[in-house]
Amino acid sequence: MSQISVSAPGKLMLFGEHSVVYGHPCIVTAINQRMQAVVELIDDPFLEIDANDVGVTGYKKPIKEIGRGEIPKGARFVEIAVKNILKNCPYTGGVKITTHSEFSSLFGFGSSSASTICVIKGLSELLDMKLDNMELFDLAYKTVSEIQGTISGFDVAAGIYGGTLYFIKPVHPRGGRTVLLGGVQEEINSIPLIVVYSGIKADTPTLVRHVAKLKQEKPEFVHTIFNTITKLVEKAKTALLEKDWKTAGELMNTNQEYLQSLGVSTEKLDSMINAACRAGAYGAKLSGAGGGDCIIALAPDENREEVKKAIQTAGGIIMNVNTNAPGVQITK
Ligand code: MEV
Repeated sequence: MSQISVSAPGKLMLFGEHSVVYGHPCIVTAINQRMQAVVELIDDPFLEIDANDVGVTGYKKPIKEIGRGEIPKGARFVEIAVKNILKNCPYTGGVKITTHSEFSSLFGFGSSSASTICVIKGLSELLDMKLDNMELFDLAYKTVSEIQGTISGFDVAAGIYGGTLYFIKPVHPRGGRTVLLGGVQEEINSIPLIVVYSGIKADTPTLVRHVAKLKQEKPEFVHTIFNTITKLVEKAKTALLEKDWKTAGELMNTNQEYLQSLGVSTEKLDSMINAACRAGAYGAKLSGAGGGDCIIALAPDENREEVKKAIQTAGGIIMNVNTNAPGVQITK
């Protein structure tokens, strides 16, 4: 076999962003919009990448030079993933990767992690490396953190395992502590989230650095916030397992207040969240790093449509997203 197709889901952070970077737990769900990749072994010892969604067409580099020199932004995760796989492998041929995403890289659904996972899964299968999920996590986590710096790896876990996860960052890269709360046909099989794109692309590393600086300047303040978020994540885990959407929504509001205190929310995100709550949502919060990307809301069935309209009036774009999608899959 010299060609394989792989897909991995995007993700949405439900509770615990930022504190998860410092070893606190979070809850993340995999979504039904996926990254697709075709991975091929080719004779010429080159890496070839086509990732039209992120502006990379006909990219070609000798295998022995990968990871070095200028790498276009859209090819970075794929190239470093290939480098990290081939480092421990005697393979001397070339590799061609073609990716296609069902979602825009602007939404913050984790396109970089999803493409990294697809490449590592696909290439390791073709090279008969037989990685288990933990080893797949370690390689993908190493790849993403090599490019993005400080990360928790929650999106890597969501992309590999799928479902809805309670996740704690690995102390040393050994798979993190990942507990599946619900996957397809398991305890939580869907969360009636309203997912809204703010129209603004967030820059995660900048926001992570902002919180790191705040933590250095006001350690006690940030420590207290992180500990309170941890308690809230534990309550949210129970609420989600019990399908108690009202409590989960209220916990979203509390989580949002702490994210505001950390300085990662924005006027636009706050105004969409306030509009949702005024229209009768149980609660709403930003999802991810803040600064832009998406908000999520939970609302009773009877005023879901009203909540959506209010958010749209506040400038939000309603996304068609389902939760608890399956993790990485070989599709052909
Ligand atoms: C970004 O989507 C979420 C953060 O917690 C960073 C991370 O966990 O890697 C801010």
